[in-house]
Amino acid sequence: MKCLKDIINFYKNTSTDDLAKTADNICTINYGKNIFIRGLLEFSNYCNMNCLYCGIRKDNKKVNRYRMSIEDIIKTVKKGYQSGIKTFVLQSGEDHYYTIEKLCLIIKKIKESTNFNAAVTLSCGIKTRKQYLELKKAGCDRYLLRFETSDEKLHKYLRNGVTLKKRINAIMDLKDLGFETGSGYMVGLPGENETTRINNALLCKKLELDMVGIGPFIPHNDTPLKESIQENIELVVRATSLVRLLLPYANIPATTASGTLDKIGREKMLKAGANVLMPNINDEKYKKNYLLYPGKICIEESGSQCLSCLNKRVSDISKNIVMDRGDSLSFLNKNKSLVKEKI
Ligand code: 5AD
Ligand code: SF4
Ligand code: FES
Repeated sequence: MKCLKDIINFYKNTSTDDLAKTADNICTINYGKNIFIRGLLEFSNYCNMNCLYCGIRKDNKKVNRYRMSIEDIIKTVKKGYQSGIKTFVLQSGEDHYYTIEKLCLIIKKIKESTNFNAAVTLSCGIKTRKQYLELKKAGCDRYLLRFETSDEKLHKYLRNGVTLKKRINAIMDLKDLGFETGSGYMVGLPGENETTRINNALLCKKLELDMVGIGPFIPHNDTPLKESIQENIELVVRATSLVRLLLPYANIPATTASGTLDKIGREKMLKAGANVLMPNINDEKYKKNYLLYPGKICIEESGSQCLSCLNKRVSDISKNIVMDRGDSLSFLNKNKSLVKEKI
């Protein structure tokens, strides 16, 4: 399968199981049976955005809002590092309380407290190019910014007027500044169809993403989309395989949202091309207030409980967890070719 057209045709004409097997083979060729671990830390659930699908949108007054102090963040990271985690993903809503100066300080402190062995990923929304540059200079390695849907009209409607173009420009800034860059989308949003889903995957390819996060949209009762229907996990599994076929070297997490929709949703993704897991390492008191969607799993378990649970789940599907930084091969390859060019 050389060109995009062949891959899309294969996707359209292949059963979910066969698609998954092909994607799993490609993943195994590149990443072996290894599954990388990221420690997820949701440091603030304040958000000044009002995305129609999201449980922590600004207008949801039922949310108990919290902001973690820098000390609390570092304490949590240190605990994760002691349990072997070498990549930390710091996520929040779009919360301007954490200025670029504060974020830079957090990044520097994480680096220092992990002997500069850990990779830091931020996921806290659109910022200016100049601000991204500051974060990079402070040591931030990676950044996640999902585009959510590749349908321009739908994007604008769901994200309260913010354009897809603005989001994509921010993603391109991140790439240009040398971040290992992740994006992705939800599957099953109201108003999307199979063409949207194919375009979502193609946009990931076009952006040559290093990381792609895909998860099912799960309607939340305290949002305008509460009446939406819940699509089946199968669509997410197919999307995972398609993205793996298009981006053989990307890191693709098996997301918590999939594990919420289906008890073995994460395993299904791992058997269909995904190669990353992101246990939430935060204190239970915070976890329960970061509900983008209802029924979220793992909010009563500690990070270390999740780690041992994941170890078992992963070995049950004949794969193994590795605690490396787990840089994406596409990112490493890019940098290798840069070195070659310089020589
Ligand atoms: N269901 C599933 N995923 C959601 N997200 C936000 N709201 C929901 C929901 N109701 C996803 C978005 C966001 C990521 C952090 O969580 O894709 O980028
Ligand atoms: Fe805020 Fe992100 Fe939720 Fe949108 S999806 S309301 S930006 S936390
Ligand atoms: Fe969290 Fe299983 S991964 S309880």
